[in-house]
Amino acid sequence: MRIIRAKDYKDMSRKAANIISAQVILKPDSVLGLATGSSPIGTYEQLVKWYEKGDLDFADVTTVNLDEYYGMKPENDQSYHYFMHDHFFDHVNIDPSRINLPNGMEPDEEKECARYDAVLRSVGDVDIQLLGIGRNGHIGFNEPADDFTYGTHVVTLTADTIEANARFFKSADEVPRQAVSMGIGNIMAAKCVVLVATGENKAKAVYDTIRGPITPRVPASVLQLHPCCVILTDREAGKLMLEE
Ligand code: GLP
Repeated sequence: MRIIRAKDYKDMSRKAANIISAQVILKPDSVLGLATGSSPIGTYEQLVKWYEKGDLDFADVTTVNLDEYYGMKPENDQSYHYFMHDHFFDHVNIDPSRINLPNGMEPDEEKECARYDAVLRSVGDVDIQLLGIGRNGHIGFNEPADDFTYGTHVVTLTADTIEANARFFKSADEVPRQAVSMGIGNIMAAKCVVLVATGENKAKAVYDTIRGPITPRVPASVLQLHPCCVILTDREAGKLMLEE
């Protein structure tokens, strides 16, 4: 694991965007695994700026997103479809036919999970998987559990995640109870993983991810086994790493 503690959110976001930029420059038909949440917003903003300056070209890039709320229409402004278009896709020259996200509106769970796993197989190896991290150490929507999941699956969100995500909704009651998410196996299959973590409320999850035991109770801890994993934090999220 390579751990980089940036000065602040902006610095962290620029560093993450730099890693993704280098990937896209070196391999214009890269497959990028993308994440939602507030943590990667600055990374997308920076990528859009460099695209606008003419430094980046996404025409041949393929994207696969980690997750989507289950039962939420893509036009809902809290859906991850909406988020991705709003923060990234609508601002760069990505080919819409190369954008892939789980479909939260497919009523048949098994069918959707099998479809998305087939999509992941068909796009080939993910070159860089961008990740945020939940306060409880979740990645994608892989919540703390007794086992690591392998493929795409429907998850029931934990009370902690519902509470954490309630800030985006009028109330916690409106937060969907389920999501469809890539599994840990899908995430670990990426050639390289870049996890961005910001703010003091992520410090414990970051510490447990890097220094704790590898356990499905802290899903991100499995990244200790990944051969190419970068953990990028701001000062606050990386705080406990310094207090050792
Ligand atoms: C959600 C997403 C995760 C994200 C996490 C943290 O639950 N499914 O992919 O990493 O929230 O979000 P934030 O970056 O807003 O703290």
